Amino acid sequence: MINNELADLAREVAKKAYAPYSNFRVGAALVTDSGNIYTGCNIENASYPATVCAEDVAVVKAISEGEKKIDTIAVACIDAKSDTALFPCGISRQRLAEFDTKTVLVVSESDFVEYKFEEILPFNFKF
Ligand code: THU
Repeated sequence: MINNELADLAREVAKKAYAPYSNFRVGAALVTDSGNIYTGCNIENASYPATVCAEDVAVVKAISEGEKKIDTIAVACIDAKSDTALFPCGISRQRLAEFDTKTVLVVSESDFVEYKFEEILPFNFKF
């Protein structure tokens, strides 16, 4: 799976978001060290803190299938108003740190930018 395809999957799965409260649709697609692909979208809740982020859904799916490490995750978190690709939130970054994520693709409508994980969460908490 090449990064381009991972970015496309992230854009595609964002369409499945359940986001009736924010109307903000996020999609994530990750490839594990073993080469398998998992996707996720944000799933909101009337009790707002029960909302889960797209990245977290993808991580939960991967790890619960027995995956150990994440190689690359593409996140399509696009602010439609400014047409800006946003970065994963802090909690999702911490969740990604746990599974040794190497690379993050920040995906816009027509492009993506590749970051080393350490660039977006330096000095992460891990023991
Ligand atoms: N959201 C994500 O899915 N991932 C992020 O990294 C940031 C925020 C979702 C949660 C909520 O459903 C909506 O975006 C607005 O915060």
